[in-house]
Amino acid sequence: MIKWFVEKLLLLQLLIFPALGFCDPIFSTGNKHSVTVIGTGYVGLVLGACLADLGQVVTCCDVDKEKIQMLSKGMIPIYENGLLEIVQKNLANGRLHFSTNVDTSILNSNVIFITVGTPEGKNGEANLCFIGKVAETIGKNLNDKKTIFVKSTVPMGTIRWIKEVIDENNSKQTPYNLGYAPEFLREGSSVEDFMHPDRIVIGADNDETANIFANLMQPLIDAGAPLCTTSIASAEMIKYASNSFLSIKISFINEIADFCEQIGANVDEVAYAIGLDKRIGKAFLKPGPGYGGSCFPKDTNAFLKAAEKYGIDLKTVNAAVQTNSTRALKIVQNLENRFGSLKGLKIAIWGLSFKEETDDVRESAALKLIDLLQKRGAILHCYDPIANANALKVFPTLFTYNRPQDAVQYADALILATPWKEFLEVNFIDIYKRMNTKFIYDTRNFLDEKYLRRIGFEVESLGKK
Ligand SMILES: NC(=O)c1ccc[n+]([C@@H]2O[C@H](COP(=O)([O-])OP(=O)(O)OC[C@H]3O[C@@H](n4cnc5c(N)ncnc54)[C@H](O)[C@@H]3O)[C@@H](O)[C@H]2O)c1
Repeated sequence: MIKWFVEKLLLLQLLIFPALGFCDPIFSTGNKHSVTVIGTGYVGLVLGACLADLGQVVTCCDVDKEKIQMLSKGMIPIYENGLLEIVQKNLANGRLHFSTNVDTSILNSNVIFITVGTPEGKNGEANLCFIGKVAETIGKNLNDKKTIFVKSTVPMGTIRWIKEVIDENNSKQTPYNLGYAPEFLREGSSVEDFMHPDRIVIGADNDETANIFANLMQPLIDAGAPLCTTSIASAEMIKYASNSFLSIKISFINEIADFCEQIGANVDEVAYAIGLDKRIGKAFLKPGPGYGGSCFPKDTNAFLKAAEKYGIDLKTVNAAVQTNSTRALKIVQNLENRFGSLKGLKIAIWGLSFKEETDDVRESAALKLIDLLQKRGAILHCYDPIANANALKVFPTLFTYNRPQDAVQYADALILATPWKEFLEVNFIDIYKRMNTKFIYDTRNFLDEKYLRRIGFEVESLGKK
């Protein structure tokens, strides 16, 4: 009788919930876990919301009370395409929860993800203090066998160290699993990246850990995502090697751009043609003001530091870092070549986030430009579709505007620093009329240069004479 009742209840749930838009067809009761995500930032929030969307019951925890309050009301603290809808949907269907009570959440779950930040420390090494604190908290709250996955980006040997910290605090010696599942999402398209990953990596030292992870990711694996099951050491290497390789590609094309300028070649033509070679690929072959964001700069530095400890000199990664560190200065020097002193020059900057489609300004090349230009006495008027507020946290006295055309009023130069699509839609005839000197520095080779020249603009870009 009870079995019949449970079956009917399940059937009812499966019929009614999808009709209400509460459930995905991939939802499978066989895969259900109670998941805690510790650290509800860019990575943790996307992970938690997407896992809930795949059918798990998830609690995202954070020490930031304001953030958790906001999320509990169905608002998200970051700008990320498609994320708000997934958060609201899974809050409504009861699969997604938010909490500041990390201890209770750990006690009530069987799977735990660690997604706290690992920012750059003073000497370039990864700062592991947040992750150490979380490992301590997990150790103290191990009331039964749980599986812990680290998603934060960490240097080689960190998972072993996390295990030591958990063990020191696990007074009852409760057994647990620990794996490393590096995250590869790109801000701006992180929901899409989570749902359709190029690959999923799990570093584990036993089958049970790897299987639990595969079980969580089953809908994505069924949809074709390749699963790479590796040792923990390999997974630690994969994450840093991936980010470093992409950084090398960016620095490489930036150096080629410099060379192109000298010989009268066009870097866009060069990048397109070399990118058609399948062995090279066209991604990350776009010249620019240097890579930024919360990952590449800190991860390449941490990789170099980690290698140093093992007596390895990563010359190519080091070269990429060195090249990158000169990019913003080169742009400012080009401006000085054009205008002489920049003191008192009114410069408009379009785009403040480190890339388009995100509000994240961490290590943004635009902010590096702002810093260098301010130090030279330039007067800056900035516009970003989303990131003005975050930029103001770094430079509180910056003039920011809500429309791109307002930032260029009477400007002597316009610098395009971040390639937001909306800049392609701007009425440049109107921009031309508003500017004092009709000079555009397109540091992303993004705008239609020929068209701008036809209007009468003087245009500077990268890798072209
Ligand atoms: N942002 C990305 O695009 C990206 C991509 C791949 C990997 N990663 C890696 O993922 C990790 C997280 O990055 P992020 O960008 O999401 O960081 P973030 O700074 O946006 O978020 C980290 C969150 O952790 C919270 N936190 C800190 N200590 C805590 C504790 N003891 N308990 C609970 N919460 C705590 C913070 O309040 C913050 O909300 C980093 O290691 C990063 O390198 C980031």
